[in-house]
Amino acid sequence: MSVLVTGGAGFIGSHCCVDLATHGVDVVVVDDHSNSSPRALDRVAELVGVEIPSYEIDVRDPAELESVFAAHDIDAVIHFAARKAVGESVAMPIEYYESNVGGLLNLLRTMRAHEVDRLVFSSSCSIYGDADDVPILEDTPPRPTNPYARTKWMGEQILADACAVETAWSVMALRYFNPVGAHESGRIGEDPRGIPNNLMPYLTQLAVGRLHELSVFGDDYPTVDGTGVRDYIHVMDVVEGHRVALEHMTSPGFRSLNLGTGTGTSVLQLLAAFTEVCGRELPYRIVARRPGDVAELVADPERAAVELGWRARRDVLDMCRDAWRFQQENPGGYEPA
Ligand code: UD1
Repeated sequence: MSVLVTGGAGFIGSHCCVDLATHGVDVVVVDDHSNSSPRALDRVAELVGVEIPSYEIDVRDPAELESVFAAHDIDAVIHFAARKAVGESVAMPIEYYESNVGGLLNLLRTMRAHEVDRLVFSSSCSIYGDADDVPILEDTPPRPTNPYARTKWMGEQILADACAVETAWSVMALRYFNPVGAHESGRIGEDPRGIPNNLMPYLTQLAVGRLHELSVFGDDYPTVDGTGVRDYIHVMDVVEGHRVALEHMTSPGFRSLNLGTGTGTSVLQLLAAFTEVCGRELPYRIVARRPGDVAELVADPERAAVELGWRARRDVLDMCRDAWRFQQENPGGYEPA
């Protein structure tokens, strides 16, 4: 089987390439490296022992994408390539819709032209917005609260509409909760550009001395200790979920599934777990809530367990340990320190 991974040099994409290739899948990558390093793909090749064909292209470019489909006999696509920063999406909505919706449409046109009928779409728990009931079931009506989340919800609706007419298509939208951690080798991991927005890369960079203090965004939420609660999920569990999803896409139609653990962890609980793993106290200060944040987002992971026979296996300490290993061994990320 041959799988095209868009955004294959990114955080989740690179881990997905390792997982697929170690399970005998032929992987082809497209990535424009707007938020990823080509070095990640060198590390993937080193881990799996084969070169992965990769193309530096933008998924919005019809001619470039067409040339990749013409050059490879692709059976299925996993579509990660997208912009993903919530704050940036508020400031640059046109660019977000262009990349995330425009890129998806171009991909779908190219898939249709080449009769590729299986797609896994990278969706997000952010489509649920401030959900009333936690844990969150897939049937919860989406209430996205920012342009980024709206691009993901629009993507799902486009795919559902397309599957109604492309009757051979099998499409699965996987709604990730908070992917963190790294491959256990320490060779690939999360390496965001600039100061990290997200908590785990902030903690790893703080522990390695690149940052000086964590700001905890609010301690007055109605949660266990007042800080925000999230469903952190190990990136290797996320990518295993993708592989298992592909294996289960034998019947046509569109489906959405949560990929989460079902366990909530607060900011202070994650800080404590990370402190235990890295063995040093990390300075922090409670500051105001971050605009747009919600109190608690935790998945009900049962539908994926029933439909795919997949469950997340790794816990928060595994996530901290693996994220820390990558940062310790690569203090400057993929750039030479
Ligand atoms: C964010 C996005 C979400 C996206 C996900 C993965 C927002 C509002 N949501 O999720 O759409 O799918 O990343 O890219 O940006 N925190 C701190 N201090 C920090 C950073 C975070 O206290 O320096 C807290 C947050 O308030 C939150 C928790 O840590 O309670 C997790 O934050 P983060 O890692 O940014 O993820 P989300 O906001 O859940």
